[in-house]
Amino acid sequence: MKYDYLIVGAGLFGAVFAHEMTKNGKKCIVIDKRKHLGGNVYCEKKEDINIHKYGAHIFHTNDKKIWDYVNSFVEFNRYTNSPIANYKGDLFNLPFNMNTFYQLWKVKTPKEAKAKIAEQISEVYVKKPKNLEEQALSLVGIDIYEKLIKGYTEKQWGRKATELPAFIIKRLPVRFNFDNNYFNDKYQGIPIGGYNKLIEGLLKGIETKTGVDFFKEKEALENLADKIVFTGKIDEYFDYKFGRLEYRSLQFEHEVLNTENYQGNAVVNYTEADIPYTRIIEHKHFEYGKQKKTVITKEYPKEWKKGDEPYYPVNDEKNSNIYLKYKQIAEKTDKVIFGGRLAEYKYYDMHQVIASALKKVKEE
Ligand code: FDA
Repeated sequence: MKYDYLIVGAGLFGAVFAHEMTKNGKKCIVIDKRKHLGGNVYCEKKEDINIHKYGAHIFHTNDKKIWDYVNSFVEFNRYTNSPIANYKGDLFNLPFNMNTFYQLWKVKTPKEAKAKIAEQISEVYVKKPKNLEEQALSLVGIDIYEKLIKGYTEKQWGRKATELPAFIIKRLPVRFNFDNNYFNDKYQGIPIGGYNKLIEGLLKGIETKTGVDFFKEKEALENLADKIVFTGKIDEYFDYKFGRLEYRSLQFEHEVLNTENYQGNAVVNYTEADIPYTRIIEHKHFEYGKQKKTVITKEYPKEWKKGDEPYYPVNDEKNSNIYLKYKQIAEKTDKVIFGGRLAEYKYYDMHQVIASALKKVKEE
């Protein structure tokens, strides 16, 4: 065999796996059906701005080892995610904190805010929430639900909140301080120069081929290596024999604007139902860009159909059962390691997928 590992998919899982194995003296080749490396963290340059082509990516982790690991390939900036919500033209800070409560009710102290939320919850008193709407009302009351949760969630899921299960919202974190930092993690940032730098660092010196679909040349590719690391869709690998796994998809509409600063923040959520997109991303703010123009992206959630990009797995009972069947035969498939968000039918944050690839390397 020419290679020890053929790695299908040049996303974070594949890139980390290839990097570590190469470091350990193994010979790897990485292929991807897309025309570029990086999977969903890939950035495309427009107007000299790094555009997060497959959705906004903010790196965050509590794990110092993972933080040091990514920083060993590229230095990260101090970007802190602090999204804004726009509801019918009024602006609110997220996540729900003292700034939000002041904007909603003009309350100024944690004590006043707690009393107001308790009053709001008691006004709509729901004993046993039967759906997402009732669950949210029971946790934060009417104002926050109607202005900041309802429309956004219904657009995201393409269904009424009363038709969505309560378990989707387990907790709704409320903060009684003026902290707009969305994540609670210790470390957070964006690679200076964009995510492509991280991928370039990981794949440096490793043979890669883009524009190669594994399934179009399966036999020839399989004969290249002792083992295969597959990070594509697990149902596709097994020819959909137990049925298709479903996803939620997104449509991105990119616009170049002849203005230096469009919305003053990287992420603005549109929380009313009448606006069809859920958020507008202004990419330059991830890297404190000073370019003359700006690029914004409107994000439209949509039902996934064949041919669309699969973004979010639908982890309901039906799909979980189908996945389990694939997982069982995957475990018995010698020679192939299944990993990453598509092969494990699992939503992974970046730090989690890196940790998972490092774990797989250790097992190998
Ligand atoms: P990924 O999808 O990146 O890579 C798989 C690769 O396999 C793809 O490049 C694909 O083309 C290739 N492939 C598939 N089938 C193939 C075939 N037959 N032949 C050849 N190649 C094939 N995380 C986070 O920490 N912070 C954030 O802010 C975000 N934001 C975010 C937004 C959106 C909209 C989504 C959907 C996800 C996020 N994430 C995130 C999660 C992040 O995107 C995720 O953790 C990683 O991209 C997962 O990396 P993988 O390598 O598993 O998959």
